[in-house]
Amino acid sequence: MKVNFKKEKQWWNAKATKEEQDLADEAINRALRWREIERHLEGIKTILDIGAGIGVYSIPLAQRRFSVTHIDFSPSMLKIASQKSKSLNLKNIHFVEGNAVDLSQFPDHSFDLVLNMDGAISFCGSEAEQAIFESCRVTKKKLIITVSNKILMFPVWLASSLEAVKHFTPADYEMLERGEWHQEQFPENAMMTKGLTQNYFGAFKAFLPDELEKILKQAGMRILRIGGLGSLANLCGKETVEQVLRNKVLFEEFLDLCERFDKEILRDGPGTRQRAGLIAIAEPAEKS
Ligand SMILES: C[S@@+](CC[C@H](N)C(=O)[O-])C[C@H]1O[C@@H](n2cnc3c(N)ncnc32)[C@H](O)[C@@H]1O
Repeated sequence: MKVNFKKEKQWWNAKATKEEQDLADEAINRALRWREIERHLEGIKTILDIGAGIGVYSIPLAQRRFSVTHIDFSPSMLKIASQKSKSLNLKNIHFVEGNAVDLSQFPDHSFDLVLNMDGAISFCGSEAEQAIFESCRVTKKKLIITVSNKILMFPVWLASSLEAVKHFTPADYEMLERGEWHQEQFPENAMMTKGLTQNYFGAFKAFLPDELEKILKQAGMRILRIGGLGSLANLCGKETVEQVLRNKVLFEEFLDLCERFDKEILRDGPGTRQRAGLIAIAEPAEKS
């Protein structure tokens, strides 16, 4: 179904002040992404952060003197991020209002490192693939993306249907078959989002690792890593995660264990409970 980006933008605007309030295992997901970013900074000067929110990655990267372009389609997110940047007197980050599905303002291969994490792909719904293609097109050296993992999203949809309407719904089958959600697609869908911000859940697409790999290859990328991110945190559950988050030493060791678990035991996911649980790291197959 066609995505109404005006509506999507309003929804994200309403979520801006809560953007960095970490729930459940979100801090684990973020820290695991930081570890991956750190591994790919060699030789990087310019960074494009797509769907960069209120600057959780873009601002620290600018503080480390990379030349950062922070793009987001939500004016409220951009406002908070640019205020933070001003208070830090950063001159090497600039803010652009724009949609991830159309990055035509940037030429091909124009940024050494492109990040598109946790939202500006999966929340493009039926246009998510286009957002991936655009992210790949502007990448010169490395691309890091995270998207929602269908392995987790399908059971989440089932639970939400049962809670809201006490039976499984067409939306569950849509999630199973195409990984997609659009609030206006089926009459019962609106009942599943009662109590969420604006009683709404954005147009959405979840992927399996194989599907994501196929799209990235079609876009001319070579895959360096693809798979679940932080599944161990999800499977250990809330109490273990809370305990780990309270202790710096345990936290670092837990991140090591999460990385080993993703690599050695459950490669595809489900990923963390909160935040996008499927990561892909890629580079253009042909160097420009
Ligand atoms: C959950 S936040 C993630 C922020 C940050 N990238 C991170 O990883 O924590 C998702 C961000 O993506 C933005 N976003 C969603 N869809 C977008 C689109 N089509 N184009 C640009 N930004 C988008 C939202 O406004 C929001 O700021």
